[in-house]
Amino acid sequence: MKVSVKVPATIANIGPGFDCLGLAVPIYNTITIEETVLPGTGVEINVLASEDLTDELSLEHIQMDENSIIYKAVELLYNSIGQTPSELKITIHSEIPIAKGLGSSASVIVGGLIAANELLGHPADEAALLSIATEVEGHPDNITPAIVGGIVISSSEDDGSIIYRKLNWPEDWVLTVVIPDYELATEISRSVLPKEVPMKDAVFNLQRMAMFTTALANKDAELMKLALKDKLHQPYRQKLVPGFDKITEKLKHEDSVMGCVLSGAGPSVLVISQKNGADKVREIIKETWKDLDINVKVVTLPIEQNGAKVVSVV
Ligand code: HSE
Repeated sequence: MKVSVKVPATIANIGPGFDCLGLAVPIYNTITIEETVLPGTGVEINVLASEDLTDELSLEHIQMDENSIIYKAVELLYNSIGQTPSELKITIHSEIPIAKGLGSSASVIVGGLIAANELLGHPADEAALLSIATEVEGHPDNITPAIVGGIVISSSEDDGSIIYRKLNWPEDWVLTVVIPDYELATEISRSVLPKEVPMKDAVFNLQRMAMFTTALANKDAELMKLALKDKLHQPYRQKLVPGFDKITEKLKHEDSVMGCVLSGAGPSVLVISQKNGADKVREIIKETWKDLDINVKVVTLPIEQNGAKVVSVV
């Protein structure tokens, strides 16, 4: 049996929601798992991408053995029903750039788990998949939208369970994503964060988070302009993302722009604006990074409302 699962890229944090807010976007990885018939062949992991994407995806970073996150996720699922994975061929058709803050690791964890769950006859329900995937990833903000789609707020509880709710997104608000041609591994980007933060910074984020959900519920762009701020991770990470300060400053004067935040742990940057301002936003972004001599890819995207899905079983 051979199962393929298509999983969207994700953008986590979105300003004030460090480790708890995330959304899915229409860029996809497809993960295929096949039970091989030859005993003793173990696990084989291959990564494929179309030729024009090979350079920008940084595929060399994907681990191809039993230490890979995808294998760990699959193994945890097998173990949860008292089994051990034996002969598996895993193929990742990759379109999501790696180490760019777009949830590539969450996508392979989720794709591997859902494919293995199909192979095993669905022993795990959505709650179990969320919980195993988050155990491997470490936080739920990319995992949850990769599984359920949309824009989601999620929390990881002490017993390992994940609580989530989807939020509504106004139709005329769009996401413009700046993807620089250099990488920033999440481990590095997490290593610069402090273990503790000042109480006033925690309160600042609580206030912005409340503004964020209220702004979405009321389609209140003016409130969203105040909400898209953060004091828990961006101040520590922005030195790792050249261009971030500059673009934030430049876009401050654009009426259609609600804010500019790091995409996940960076180095990609997310700009949220009204749909009718997106062309101008892309122009300003391109100019800014051109001045810095850094190549960037800039795309304006809607939110992907669908999460991971099984696309073929043969
Ligand atoms: N919330 C995570 C972080 C997302 O900011 O480190 C990246 O995995």
